[in-house]
Amino acid sequence: MRLSTSILMAMPLAAYAAEEGKSVIDEYKAKFDGFLGSFGAKPVQLTPEQQARYGAEEKPVEGGALTELTLGNWKETLYSSIPEGSTTPEDWWVFVTGRGKSCNGFCLKAESAFNQTAETFAAQTETDTPNMALINCDNEPILCSSWSCGPGSLWVFDLLPAPADVDVHLTRVNLSSITPETFAGYLDPAARANFTQLESVFHPFNSNLAKYDLAVPFGYAIHYISKIPNWAFMFGLSAISRTMMTNRMQNHEARRQRAAAPPATPAVKI
Ligand SMILES: *[C@@H]1O[C@H](CO)[C@@H](O)[C@H](O)[C@H]1NC(C)=O
Ligand SMILES: *[C@@H]1O[C@H](CO)[C@@H](O)[C@H](O)[C@H]1NC(C)=O
Ligand SMILES: *[C@@H]1O[C@H](CO)[C@@H](O)[C@H](O)[C@H]1NC(C)=O
Repeated sequence: MRLSTSILMAMPLAAYAAEEGKSVIDEYKAKFDGFLGSFGAKPVQLTPEQQARYGAEEKPVEGGALTELTLGNWKETLYSSIPEGSTTPEDWWVFVTGRGKSCNGFCLKAESAFNQTAETFAAQTETDTPNMALINCDNEPILCSSWSCGPGSLWVFDLLPAPADVDVHLTRVNLSSITPETFAGYLDPAARANFTQLESVFHPFNSNLAKYDLAVPFGYAIHYISKIPNWAFMFGLSAISRTMMTNRMQNHEARRQRAAAPPATPAVKI
């Protein structure tokens, strides 16, 4: 049931993706590789050495220096800081993180560095600092699926009031070595030279998926497909191919009977 719903929902998507000039196959393939790989994956237990490299104490950020984005609030939150009629883009930095489920425990140190950066920025009065937010993919799997974003990446949004397009640049961070200084260093636009500009069919603002409000249904579809165990997936595939075989054999049989039937008597013209 889940599978068929997802397939139904996915079909119009192919059309939108094609309109965007993207190979939808590539995007799907990347997604599928992702969730085929996730079947049977268990959160790893970090060794003490990894714990030192990737782990950190969890400390909530106080005083509104950092917002946690959810499926329900992200858009409103990002736009909340944008004055009406503004013509200079306002920056939001969003760090995509996760815990055991989506990041295998490898994100804590980077997340903690990001949190500290948010506190430092909030205390700054002279320099222009961006708004800071986190997405925890363990808590927000649908949001992460609908943006097609993975833990351990920093997304920089340049926002103008809606409905202007929104530029997004992103980078994967080095989870073992990133420090608050690295994050703060990205204030310099030159340090962001290697960020990639997001041009994806899953772009949260500019894509047709987003414009037609399909990103969230799609996020649900991907999320639930990823939960189908391997055996059920194989079972579904074999059921589909059996049905196709049966149909083909029936067609074949019908053709054979038509061919064997005596030809209709030709009309006699006088
Ligand atoms: C980062 O801040 C968020 C929001 O306050 C908090 O939920 C999270 O536990 C913090 N993470 C770390 C590693 O301190
Ligand atoms: C991440 O940083 C560590 C320590 O500096 C380094 O050894 C490693 O090669 C880096 N990884 C990547 C992918 O750059
Ligand atoms: C960007 O990447 C190139 C090649 O990997 C590297 O030499 C350069 O230092 C990077 N620039 C920044 C600002 O990180």
